[in-house]
Amino acid sequence: MTDSRLATRWAGFGTSIFTEMTELARAHGAVNLAQGFPDFLGPDRLLRAIEAHVGSSHHQYAPGNGEGRLRRAVARAVAASTGVERDPTTEVTITTGATEAIYATVNAFVNPGDRVVVFEPLYDSYAQAIAQAGGVLVPVRLHAPDTEPGQAAGGWAIDWDQLDAALAAGFRLLILNSPHNPTGKVFTEDELARIAAVVRAADAVAMCDEVYEALVHDGARHVSLSSFDEVRHLVVRISSAAKTFGFTGLKIGWATAARELSSAVRLVHQGTVFSTTPFLQTAVAEVLEDESWMDGYLTELRTSYQAKRDLLRAALVQAGFDVPAVRGTYFLMASFERLAPGRSDVAMGRHLIETRGIAAIPPSAFYARPPGPLPWLRFAFCKRDDTLRRAAAQLQRPTT
Ligand SMILES: Cc1ncc(COP(=O)(O)O)c(C=O)c1O
Repeated sequence: MTDSRLATRWAGFGTSIFTEMTELARAHGAVNLAQGFPDFLGPDRLLRAIEAHVGSSHHQYAPGNGEGRLRRAVARAVAASTGVERDPTTEVTITTGATEAIYATVNAFVNPGDRVVVFEPLYDSYAQAIAQAGGVLVPVRLHAPDTEPGQAAGGWAIDWDQLDAALAAGFRLLILNSPHNPTGKVFTEDELARIAAVVRAADAVAMCDEVYEALVHDGARHVSLSSFDEVRHLVVRISSAAKTFGFTGLKIGWATAARELSSAVRLVHQGTVFSTTPFLQTAVAEVLEDESWMDGYLTELRTSYQAKRDLLRAALVQAGFDVPAVRGTYFLMASFERLAPGRSDVAMGRHLIETRGIAAIPPSAFYARPPGPLPWLRFAFCKRDDTLRRAAAQLQRPTT
């Protein structure tokens, strides 16, 4: 029960389905493939750096916009992966995870009543940040692969008509998450070029959440919208250490953008979190600076996640699910349309826990307004191989 004095802008939000699935999973001792974080430790290299920096760092407030060493390391890493040079002094801001950068960016640019375009299904914290700012969420649908627009593209496909309609009505901010949670879509260069043209035409700001930038599969290439010349000055690019290092507890993130946009983001950051743990920042900096270690680590990361995806996908397919291409992130969306026609995603989520001891997320949680029944579940494969093998064995149990 929530206190009736809860501010109305929070009233539409609950954690009901996530909470319900977690509790049900616990009650049934289910393998938890619902939660999007690893069940293994982050890399030893980073653990050792943290140990060393706890002892050697100052223990007081870090500079509000981030420790200089991390800002410089982030600027170098961003330039290497996107080709975009950002000045570490004025254009890189260290935040408490990507989540804070999202909140700061949305609240920096959105006035009450402003329209904010978001591709849907959407990561839930966008809706909350937009509601805090009093903005109006304008969803642009990514169509599932077996609906008509999707068939043409062979993956989750942008509803361009909806994007064109959003442009015609005008918008203040566009939120793009690529690689995309929950679908695993990696937006292509052609799609990004068209999105860049729309952002430019609207003279809007684009907030690009690229936290899964390191997690691409099958040779897919992640391209940042910020690397398109015509929108470079309009993009706030967000990333964090959480997914790259499989270390979601770190809560070290960053926003990189042109100077004017960065100062706006810094204002909100200053008024909310202000500064982030100093020794975690310098430890992350030390690891990012070690470029030859990073190269080897990222190659190994991709190989291991691709194998994890393949293991889970094969088990789901054998159990009768349909799994479209998953080119990025550590999530996959599986369709149960053939297994249980007409069943809702929430009902199937419960059913899977009760009959096979596996927890997944019903993706209706990722829609502002779910488009009717969704025959999909989201599974996280950022788990130890033995966890995934246990899930695979349990998936073969008889069901219905
Ligand atoms: C798309 C997306 N953005 C941001 C985050 C949060 O990142 P952080 O842990 O750095 O706050 C997540 C975590 O699940 C995510 O999926």
